[in-house]
Amino acid sequence: MADSNGLATAVARRRAPEAEVPLHIIRDDDLTPDAVADVFDLAARVKAHPRRYAHALEGRYLAVIFEKRSLRTRFTFELGMKTLGGESVFMDTGQQRIPDREPICDVARNLARWVDAIALRTFSHSTVEEFARHSRVPVINGLSELFHPCQSLTDFFTLQEIAGDLRAAKLAFVGDGNNVCHSLMLMGALTGAHVTVATPQAYPPKPELVARARELAAATGAVIETGHDPQRAVEDAHAVYTDVWASMGFEAEADERARVFVPYRVTPELFGRARPDAVFMHCLPAHRGEEVCEEVIESPRSAVFDQAENRLHIAKAILMMLLAK
Ligand code: CP
Ligand code: NVA
Repeated sequence: MADSNGLATAVARRRAPEAEVPLHIIRDDDLTPDAVADVFDLAARVKAHPRRYAHALEGRYLAVIFEKRSLRTRFTFELGMKTLGGESVFMDTGQQRIPDREPICDVARNLARWVDAIALRTFSHSTVEEFARHSRVPVINGLSELFHPCQSLTDFFTLQEIAGDLRAAKLAFVGDGNNVCHSLMLMGALTGAHVTVATPQAYPPKPELVARARELAAATGAVIETGHDPQRAVEDAHAVYTDVWASMGFEAEADERARVFVPYRVTPELFGRARPDAVFMHCLPAHRGEEVCEEVIESPRSAVFDQAENRLHIAKAILMMLLAK
């Protein structure tokens, strides 16, 4: 069958739906480089021709269960389902952890009887892992303390739109070695990009995830560098990326972090050390005056709203890859 909308290729290359273990996307390296390319291809097509996919997920249901607040992730998954002809059902845990009320294995097995996929946002990454172990429908990580794969897919898709071939693109991440940083390292490794990370000494990315990113990079030609010097990290970068200094769940450390992270603020001076055509990237929400200066995030070279827009197209591509029949 001619694959005029790109869906058949992505569906054929995903794990078979009848497989005992469904394809979960709970960390970036649940996807192969080919699967990432399929997601990007589908996202580009659905972005260009949204109406062609208006019925792609008719009769399909997504549960969206969030322990933490969200604008982009919740909205893009829920709107994504609607604009593909499917439905979503949202459950806010009121900032309580899922297992506070009921064992994770029971919640997962209930939901898997009702819906076709589950998007989760949790404090602990082990919640997503345990949920996935007990779910016979795909589980999508909409952010945990360790990973944010829907964000990193979006970010490299956006960078590809801006810079072209990712194998020639350099992204510098400056700030906390957090969930977004981990996912950018892994996704950069899968896409063959050059990712340089600069964090304070006390807030590096997890060494085992740096090692995993380098292992993936060995197969794709990517380069993954870590260090503590933001000035050096941004040199020659096509994109300078930062995130909040205190992620959700780490608010109690905000004052201490605010002192330590000052040299990692993306100022016009730091941004000016990147390539002259470099873009500024941030997953949002941003704290202006903390991790980024107003002049940078509001500059014509800020790509933050392109990223935010692309969250929708990537969410739709992920949903189609996992759920289309
Ligand atoms: N970037 C991101 O995940 O935003 P939300 O926390 O608003 O979902
Ligand atoms: N690192 C941030 C990302 C928010 C989208 C957090 O976890 O709060």
